[in-house]
Amino acid sequence: MTTIFYTATTLDGFLADEQDSLEWLFVQPQDEGGPMNYEDFIKDVGAMVMGATTYQWLVDHLARTGERWTYEIPCWVFTHRDFEAIGEGLTFTQAPVPEVHAEAVAAAGGRNVWMVGGGDLAAQFAEHGLLDEIVLSIAPVTLGAGRPLFPRRWNLELKELDRNGAFLCARYAVSGPL
Ligand SMILES: NC(=O)c1ccc[n+]([C@@H]2O[C@H](COP(=O)([O-])OP(=O)(O)OC[C@H]3O[C@@H](n4cnc5c(N)ncnc54)[C@H](OP(=O)(O)O)[C@@H]3O)[C@@H](O)[C@H]2O)c1
Repeated sequence: MTTIFYTATTLDGFLADEQDSLEWLFVQPQDEGGPMNYEDFIKDVGAMVMGATTYQWLVDHLARTGERWTYEIPCWVFTHRDFEAIGEGLTFTQAPVPEVHAEAVAAAGGRNVWMVGGGDLAAQFAEHGLLDEIVLSIAPVTLGAGRPLFPRRWNLELKELDRNGAFLCARYAVSGPL
């Protein structure tokens, strides 16, 4: 069981622009069956955790596209807001990170936990020693400002790298504070 921050990022380390837009991301060519692809990743995931802004983005995105919440695994959303659940298996929480992580690990039943983002929440997990890997699809785009990938001084160890379409893909082990 591994807790993995699996995400796309810009080359200058942003998950989204200042308006939470991912328009820069969806235009990038990607081979769906290529290195470090999402389908292979999600097969081994048994639980998800994310922050409120990421959840709100998903709510808005699904409303825009008319799609539905299709995740069949439990998902914890860290927030102080009053959200409505748009799918099964959603839990909104303000509990301490280690408590929620333990619940997610138990629910994952031996599979991995996906830290969806954002970057500060991923870093909170790392500060508790509860983030094992960061897997990045790095888009050939810079934004100059936006939602940061990992707003801490931290050491990582490069374990694997490859190319998928326009993306540089890299898997890092999370070492510890710089
Ligand atoms: N590029 C990608 O593949 C990718 C991946 C993930 C996310 N994204 C995007 O990147 C952006 C991320 O936004 P973000 O960095 O603002 O992060 P976020 O983690 O999604 O949301 C931050 C919010 O989470 C809540 N939160 C965080 N830690 C908490 C804790 N310990 N306890 C309770 N609540 C906590 C707070 O919500 P409250 O305001 O309710 O207190 C905080 O304001 C979003 O636009 C998202 O869609 C992109």
